Amino acid sequence: MVDSLAYTPQITLEFKIGEKDFFVAGECASRVKKTLQQLGLKQNVIKRIAIIIYEAAMNVAIHATSGMVTVHIEPDAITIRTEDVGAGIEDIDLAMKEGYSTATYEIREMGFGAGMGLSNIKQCSDDLKIESKVGVGTTLNAKVYFQEQPRPADR
Ligand SMILES: Nc1ncnc2c1ncn2[C@@H]1O[C@H](COP(=O)(O)OP(=O)(O)OP(=O)(O)O)[C@@H](O)[C@H]1O
Ligand SMILES: [Mg+2]
Repeated sequence: MVDSLAYTPQITLEFKIGEKDFFVAGECASRVKKTLQQLGLKQNVIKRIAIIIYEAAMNVAIHATSGMVTVHIEPDAITIRTEDVGAGIEDIDLAMKEGYSTATYEIREMGFGAGMGLSNIKQCSDDLKIESKVGVGTTLNAKVYFQEQPRPADR
């Protein structure tokens, strides 16, 4: 197992996500997971990365109109970016709270909408930035270092 990919060229993976395209989120996560396993990255780091990609991509599929997931693998870290066009988030601090969700009854019936996605992403990320404009869309940037980082007590 390695915690640096110094001899690996940088890799960028991109996925397009359509409205209510629930399948693609799992697909993105498992494709990146496979790539990182092939590169020999530690399983616990891969798991955190897969959770971020899945939850962020699901949020685009469920809460936005359309978007992209871009995953950039560097020698020492991975960045996960989602960019979407959609309703946006009015209050990001509130949206980050465990249990807060605006998911519809229909979405909840499908087993989503527990309001846990963003807080899970936060817990799994070493660095997280979310920007959003109501009625325009949302951008999320998460970074995970391959080498264990000092963690704040709440993570
Ligand atoms: N990309 C997005 N566009 C618009 N709103 C979003 C987006 N991502 C999150 N939100 C808002 O933030 C809320 C909280 O998101 P979070 O991922 O934590 O929970 P959820 O998606 O509702 O449920 P879960 O992720 O547990 O299935 C959402 O209900 C939604 O209101
Ligand atoms: Mg979610």
